[in-house]
Amino acid sequence: MRNIIVGFFTLLILGLMAWTASQGGAYHGGEHGKVIADFGDSMGQTAAIAPVEKSDREKENEALGALRDKAGNAGAFKVSNEYKSKCASCHGVNGSGFQNGKKMMGPPLFGQSEEKLYKDLSDFKAGRKENMIMKGLLIRLDDKALKRLAKEISEFPQRAKEAEAKRK
Ligand code: HEC
Repeated sequence: MRNIIVGFFTLLILGLMAWTASQGGAYHGGEHGKVIADFGDSMGQTAAIAPVEKSDREKENEALGALRDKAGNAGAFKVSNEYKSKCASCHGVNGSGFQNGKKMMGPPLFGQSEEKLYKDLSDFKAGRKENMIMKGLLIRLDDKALKRLAKEISEFPQRAKEAEAKRK
């Protein structure tokens, strides 16, 4: 007798499960599915806000792209071994901050003024500007080297122009 009752309830539960599934559970588009769809809609609204951010990012990327083109098209010009060996790995051989169309670790330096470059470098070195990577690098460079590098990098656009003029 007990077996019959257990069997009956088992069938009942299985039946209920089958019925629930046929009505559509939360993920099958039933009543609960609508809740999820509504939730998705409200997420969609935040997505509708997102394009504003995106266009800002796009602008930034465009600006970077323009800079990259400028520096990239500048192609090869001579840089010191000091720059090549110590800085180019993160800022690019021509200071564009790009390599093979990919953004590199360091920001573009191409086109920055000698004063700003020197200020940034000495700020990193002194710890006034926080960046572990740059600070660690500059610890071994003295003030003279910072001045030398700032001067050199500020000359990149001029060097690029000259190199291009030569190619023509
Ligand atoms: C290991 C990678 C790496 C190397 C090598 C490196 N840098 Fe940087 N550099 C960075 C990163 C990352 C930043 C961004 C730091 C920040 O803004 O917080 C940076 C920032 C700078 C800035 C500030 C630029 C700006 O517009 O804010 C200057 C100037 C600079 N680096 C010059 C140099 C010079 C000169 C060398 C060679 C002596 C060099 N870097 C080597 C990674 C590097």
